[in-house]
Amino acid sequence: MTYYADHQPTSGLRAPRAALDSDAPRLDLGGDWRFRLLPEADGPVEFATPAYDDTGWDTLPVPAHWPLHGHGAPAYTNVVYPFPLDPPHPPTDNPTGDYRCVFDLPADWAGEDVVLRFDGVDSCARVWLNGAELGMFTGSRLPAEFDVGALLRSGRNVLAVRVHQWSAGSYLEDQDMWWLPGIFRPVTLLVRPTGGLDDVFVHADFDHTTGLGTLRVDTPVPATVAVPGLGLAAVPTGAPVTVPVRPWSAENPTLYDATVTSSGETVRLRIGFRTVSIVDGVLLVNGEPLHLRGVNRHEFHPDHGRALPVETMREDVLLMKRHNINAVRTSHYPPHPAFLDLCDEYGLWVIDECDLETHGFTFVGWRNNPSADESWRESYLDRMRRTVERDKNHPSIVLWSLGNESHTGSNLAAMADWTRDRDPSRPVHYEGDADCAYVDVHSRMYATHEETERFSHGPLPFVQCEYAHAMGNGPGGLAEYVALFDENPGCAGGFVWEWIDHGLRHPVHEFAYGGDYDEPVHDGNFVIDGLLFPDRTPSPGLLDVHKAYEPVAFAFTGDQVTITPKRGDLSRLRFEWTLPDGSTGTLRVPPGGGGAALPEWPAFTGETWLTVRAVLSVDTPWAPAGHEVAWAQHLLAAAPDVPTTPTSVRPQRTDEGISFGPAEFDRRGQLTTFAGIPVGAPRLDLWRAPTDNDRGARLHETWSAVGLHRLTHRLDAVDVGDTLVTRVRVAPAGTDRGVRVTYEWTPVGDGLLLGVHLEPEGDWPEPVARIAVCLTLPPELDRVRWYGPGPGESYPDTGFANRVGTFESTVDELATPYVRPQENGRRGEVRHATVTDATGRGLRITGLPRFGLGLTRWTPAVLDAARHRVELTPGSTVELSLDAGHQGIGTASCGPGTLPSYELFLREQTFSVLLEQA
Ligand code: GAL
Repeated sequence: MTYYADHQPTSGLRAPRAALDSDAPRLDLGGDWRFRLLPEADGPVEFATPAYDDTGWDTLPVPAHWPLHGHGAPAYTNVVYPFPLDPPHPPTDNPTGDYRCVFDLPADWAGEDVVLRFDGVDSCARVWLNGAELGMFTGSRLPAEFDVGALLRSGRNVLAVRVHQWSAGSYLEDQDMWWLPGIFRPVTLLVRPTGGLDDVFVHADFDHTTGLGTLRVDTPVPATVAVPGLGLAAVPTGAPVTVPVRPWSAENPTLYDATVTSSGETVRLRIGFRTVSIVDGVLLVNGEPLHLRGVNRHEFHPDHGRALPVETMREDVLLMKRHNINAVRTSHYPPHPAFLDLCDEYGLWVIDECDLETHGFTFVGWRNNPSADESWRESYLDRMRRTVERDKNHPSIVLWSLGNESHTGSNLAAMADWTRDRDPSRPVHYEGDADCAYVDVHSRMYATHEETERFSHGPLPFVQCEYAHAMGNGPGGLAEYVALFDENPGCAGGFVWEWIDHGLRHPVHEFAYGGDYDEPVHDGNFVIDGLLFPDRTPSPGLLDVHKAYEPVAFAFTGDQVTITPKRGDLSRLRFEWTLPDGSTGTLRVPPGGGGAALPEWPAFTGETWLTVRAVLSVDTPWAPAGHEVAWAQHLLAAAPDVPTTPTSVRPQRTDEGISFGPAEFDRRGQLTTFAGIPVGAPRLDLWRAPTDNDRGARLHETWSAVGLHRLTHRLDAVDVGDTLVTRVRVAPAGTDRGVRVTYEWTPVGDGLLLGVHLEPEGDWPEPVARIAVCLTLPPELDRVRWYGPGPGESYPDTGFANRVGTFESTVDELATPYVRPQENGRRGEVRHATVTDATGRGLRITGLPRFGLGLTRWTPAVLDAARHRVELTPGSTVELSLDAGHQGIGTASCGPGTLPSYELFLREQTFSVLLEQA
């Protein structure tokens, strides 16, 4: 069978081995290579001959994906394969990139043994050096090495590589991401000295009962180990040595620089000591329960796809650390090796996952799923060997994962057996083994809160390898999950899905998602589900993660606050308090945590909060001193009631309509101006532009079936007396259910109190999106200042990263730039707000006691119709919405919907706001 359609995963490769930092010479072959793209796999192979004339070819950078450089286009599918299921055959339409790289052999390399290494080629490569065929490999995110010494010539050498987008291996690579072929990780030539260290396996255990570390380094040839930081000079490899050490953890990632030296080579290592164990159903590291507060990370860059610059990897790690994330699942393949070095260095627990997913077989009832078909056994084992062998020396890796969503089968069980045999020091993870027949931890994705609690009671440690789907606005329910993790030692924690939106930078759409390249089969914006926007700006969801994952807990009682470390210790933290009057100070917190006296505070009038913050007291490698790690607020004085005593001002009929205090109304009692500013009359609205999570819960269908997006407003009565009352029946066409709405305007102070009374008619069994009154304002009223939670957006079950204070913004800045437009930017629990133009002219709105505030330049209908943000054209007005409630957000784009306590139902109610001139 043709190699690219064969179960045989590789040919001609050297045995897999550890990624090593060696003193042997190396040559990075990256750069501009010659490139041509063919539509099918079997083009002529003459290009592999050194003399071939490639002057007519294009050039393409290596590493890179060719669809991101003008050859073909990216394509996105989640579960479905973009080709027919007939394993192991790829389709005939098989974009195939031919590459040629001409390089000069360094003069002093003559006669050396040399290895040619590929760190990642998607999906199948056939390789020639100087016209001689070396072999082929699949396994896109896995290393591949060939022995090439005998083929190298002094002076000019020609490396030729043929890369097929589709191969038998593609059946094993159905991860939810863009299909992006190419040589996307480095290509390197490595000298292999005589007597060199082909492989090194570090075993560095820590005994928490004695504080001793035991180091044993295994090598295939005799060598010695030096660890100057431990006073070890020339320990023979293979022999254990036990010494006092400081252990490695995500919080304190102590690494010891070491060298291993054989007769021919020295490799540099950074050794971390830690021991992973499972005791009584609890996952432990160094004797302590492991608290994984993680994220799933795909490698992604909006311009480079999965060909990430190392600086971007560092940015990811720094952003994670700064947001209290302490763990990463490398979903769903081993990352670039440099990323794992960064995890070791900065401190992140890692689940290293094999490059494996066959999810699309679910559509045929898992018929012919490779996981259960022995002809794929070697491919499965090959993938696991190449993962474990490459990455085995990283202290950050605490679990091996067999892959993702490949159902179950004997090939997976064989991978687990091999892994346990090769590296008994790390438990095996795989979510698809629902019966836990061959895994060491019980893993689920998108378990409900109730399941999370239930699964946390054994017998195996429970891990949520994916939860809190961060697609679009959300995730809701995050805080409640993390509370369950915190309460249950049998739950090792979880990994939010996922780190970053995979939005590819696009000349028209700003950031592209599925369908933007006219793919015939695609999954739309399901690839836009990260805590970071594609340009790595943190989303509100990431700020909530920071809050939910705080490593310190605060509890206020009387005049003290009790501070408890949840992970790590308090040694690098300083605790500060601040009051709204600007006073600030430091709390005296016992070193291990405990009670600290709060400052004495003066009598405040008005709502007053004390803020306590844990900040870094020293510079760390990941954030400077002063970086905020955790915080809490404590209510010192509650808000006084807003005065609502009516004044004697009365509505007056005029020629144009009705004049009432600061406001003018038309004859039908509809507000037209307030304080001289044209204002569109308040109208009840029960809809919002559905979020991705609403869509997941099918609420968008419910709402459109009911007709929430097309409410009609029938004016039934206008009563002008001591107050101005309009009675309106609000209802969608075609149904007899509706809402009787009474808008009552009452003079209070210099303003008007708007009371909105709702009386539903008929059954309203389903949640509504929001209960709001919407008004229109002139476009120049685009500044807002509010008192309440801020500065970010908030919904009933999100936005807990906000704290109460006074905040300012513009209408444009209130908007959250979700790649696929949807409801966003609301500020919840607002006590009062002013909306003004640049001169300060405008409205003041006061809640009785609180309201949700929305200010946008478009209606929900415009927001809903747009597929990309660039399609959002500002309207001629600013839309002001004042809500008495919003349906929670939940995480039903993948996972459970809104928790019952955050659902919003239409019931009889009254809510009020006071409107005044700003
Ligand atoms: C999971 C899967 C992830 C991703 C997620 C939804 O089932 O493992 O790769 O597809 O759902 O975004």
